[in-house]
Amino acid sequence: MSAPDAETSALLEKALAEGLELIGKARDAPSLEDARVRSLGRKASLARARSSLGRMPEVQRRSLGAIATSVQRRLEEAYRSRKEAFDALNLEKRWQEERIDVTLPGENPPVGGLHPLTKTIWEIVDIFIGMGYRVAEGPEVELASYNFDALNTPYEHPSRSPSDTYYMDGQDENVLLRPHTSPVQIRAMETQEPPVYIVCPGRTYRRDEIDATHMNTFAQIEGLAVDEGVTMADLKGTLGKFARTLFGKDLDVRLRPSFFPFTEPSAEMDVECFVCRGNGCRVCKQEGWIELLGCGMVDPFVLEWVGYDVEKYSGFAFGLGAERAASLAHGVSDLRYFYENDIRFLQTFRGVS
Ligand code: PHE
Repeated sequence: MSAPDAETSALLEKALAEGLELIGKARDAPSLEDARVRSLGRKASLARARSSLGRMPEVQRRSLGAIATSVQRRLEEAYRSRKEAFDALNLEKRWQEERIDVTLPGENPPVGGLHPLTKTIWEIVDIFIGMGYRVAEGPEVELASYNFDALNTPYEHPSRSPSDTYYMDGQDENVLLRPHTSPVQIRAMETQEPPVYIVCPGRTYRRDEIDATHMNTFAQIEGLAVDEGVTMADLKGTLGKFARTLFGKDLDVRLRPSFFPFTEPSAEMDVECFVCRGNGCRVCKQEGWIELLGCGMVDPFVLEWVGYDVEKYSGFAFGLGAERAASLAHGVSDLRYFYENDIRFLQTFRGVS
C-alpha cells in the first residue's frame, strides 16, 4: 500500500470508529442529528476520505471505495437503528402524555340558564301567543305624547309629575323613561287597523323608593285586544284563562272596580290565593285573593286618538308587573332578589319553568 492509501484507509477506520462512538453516545434526537452531521455530513472524515479517492489509481480507488461504502453503510445503519429507538421512545412518551381514557365519565361544563324573570315573561307571553296574540315592542325612552296624552292622562295627573316619572334632561318634560308599556299599544294601533291582538313585554321605570315590593326599574307585560264587538265578557274570559294557566286551572278569578285614565270601566283582576285557596294565609296577607293585574275596556278617547272608528270597534287592555308575577309563581318574598344577580338565588331556578 502506498502512503496515500494507508492514510485514506486510516482515515476511513477513524471515520467509522468516531462515527459509531458519536452515534452511540447520542442521548436524544437533537444530539443524534448532530452526530449524523458530524459522521455522515459533507465535512465529516468519511467525506474527506471519499474525496481523496478521486485522485487515486483505479485499483486502489475500487478497494478503498468499497471500504468507504461499507463504512458509510455501517454508520447509516447505526444512525437508523438509534433513530428508530428514539422515535419509538418518543412515541411511547406521547402515548403516555396524550392518553385519553374514553371510559372515564366526562366533565360537565357549567350550563347557564335563563333568568327567572325572563322565564316568567316568556311563559306569560307564550300563554297569549297560544290565544292568537302577537308580540309588540317599543322604545324605553318615550315621548310624553305617546305615554300620557294619547292615553287620556291629563297634564295634572300625578303620574306625570317629575316626582313619579323620570324625564330626560333638557326636553321640557316631553321625553321620558316609560313608566308603563302602554305607549307600545298606541304605536301598534297607529300602524294597523283592527283586529289588534298584542302583548307588549318590556322594561319600565318609575321614581319609586326601592323596597321588597317596589323597584324603580322593572318589567311589565301589557296587552291589548281591539276588534268588532269586544266586550267585558271577553276581557274576563281571556284574563281568567291566562291567570288559571299561570297559577292553576281550578282557581277562581274576580274583577274589582278600579280606575285608569285610559280604560272605562277599569278593574283589577284578583286570582284566588293558590296557597290557601281562599282561606287566608301569609302569601295573600289573609285576603284569600291575590291582586294580579290592572285591566279595563279601552276608553274610546284612546281609540279615537289613533283614528279608529269607535262605532265599529271596541277593545280591552291589561297590564301586570313581571317581577310580581314571578315572585308569586315562585314564592319569592323580595323583588330585589331578581336584580342582585346572586348566583345562589338564580341557581334555584335551574330547570324551573
Ligand atoms: N298601564 C297600567 C299600569 O302601568 C296597567 C294597565 C294597562 C291597566 C292596561 C289597564 C289597562 O299600571
